[in-house]
Amino acid sequence: MSISLPGLKLQDHVLMLAPMDGYTNIPFRLIIKEMSPSLMFTEFVNSDAVIHENKKTIGKIRILPEERPVAIQIFGHKPENMAEAAKIVEELEPELIDLNFGCPAPTVSGHGSGAALLKDLPLVARICESVVNAVKIPVSAKTRLGWDRTSINVLQTVKIFEESGIRMVTLHPRTKAQKFEGKSDWNYIREIKKVSKIPVIGNGDIITPEDACEMFKMTNCDGIMIGREAVKNPWIFSQVRDFLEKGTYLKEIPISERKRLCLKHFDLSLEFLGEHKGLLEMRKLYQNYFRAYPNIKHFKQAVFASTDLVFVRSQIENIDENISST
Ligand SMILES: Cc1cc2nc3c(=O)[nH]c(=O)nc-3n(C[C@H](O)[C@H](O)[C@H](O)COP(=O)(O)O)c2cc1C
Repeated sequence: MSISLPGLKLQDHVLMLAPMDGYTNIPFRLIIKEMSPSLMFTEFVNSDAVIHENKKTIGKIRILPEERPVAIQIFGHKPENMAEAAKIVEELEPELIDLNFGCPAPTVSGHGSGAALLKDLPLVARICESVVNAVKIPVSAKTRLGWDRTSINVLQTVKIFEESGIRMVTLHPRTKAQKFEGKSDWNYIREIKKVSKIPVIGNGDIITPEDACEMFKMTNCDGIMIGREAVKNPWIFSQVRDFLEKGTYLKEIPISERKRLCLKHFDLSLEFLGEHKGLLEMRKLYQNYFRAYPNIKHFKQAVFASTDLVFVRSQIENIDENISST
């Protein structure tokens, strides 16, 4: 399967990094880029904050040439503001602008945006049309099944996307009420793919290369999107690609490679987020790089207690001795 949109051609085995608030920043995307994803998404940004040129918000959607292609995701519920924000975002030259119709977080859906819009499909149509008409680049959308189990309306939602000029849809097949509970129901991805005139990206609960392969096979989707597992295991994209293309993949990532990538992430975080924020950012991530090792707790205690960059870096450099022995 491949996806061809104006200015964006994605070849066979389309693998996407999901938008993840608090994670998919520049350092993280540069790490994932090493693993050859087809397309990466920024964290979502509030359309109103974009319009007001909130410095933090604009920083979140900056794109470097070496990470392309990248999609910028925006959320909001006022068609005119979404269109105005999209025009500003377009100036950053992402390959795609993505609209969020799935976020269940109270800070988003509690204010009428994200998944709350699934209760008002005419408004979804107005938002999509306004944004599509405001920009020249392709616009995509990411959504859930509906508000809750009794109001699943994803078929209608995707029809509205098509009719409004949306060029690609990502489905995370849970309801808003489910948040992240239960299993995502891939049957819906298959059913949407059967009727959709636009490419369908399957998302939800891909943890292993076998899962990725199964999603392609079961749903016939045009691409897959991986979120949480990419944080836990950035190598997942290379593993999936190897499995799909060669039928085999490296199951155990050696500690030398874990250390190399973690050090790179550390350096990128300090460079792009600044020393203080970069250090804090890395505290969220050590666990993922080294979770399989017996002394991770001691390592974490040492690095969490220090703000000395040289010390923390040296702890990562010497991690072989510090962490892998019992
Ligand atoms: C910490 C976190 C932040 C997220 N932020 C966003 C976001 O900004 N925009 C969005 O559309 N989805 C967001 N999501 C949802 C993911 O993109 C994805 O749809 C979901 O995690 C299911 O995929 P997964 O099972 O591969 O993680 C977020 C998920 C997590 C865990």
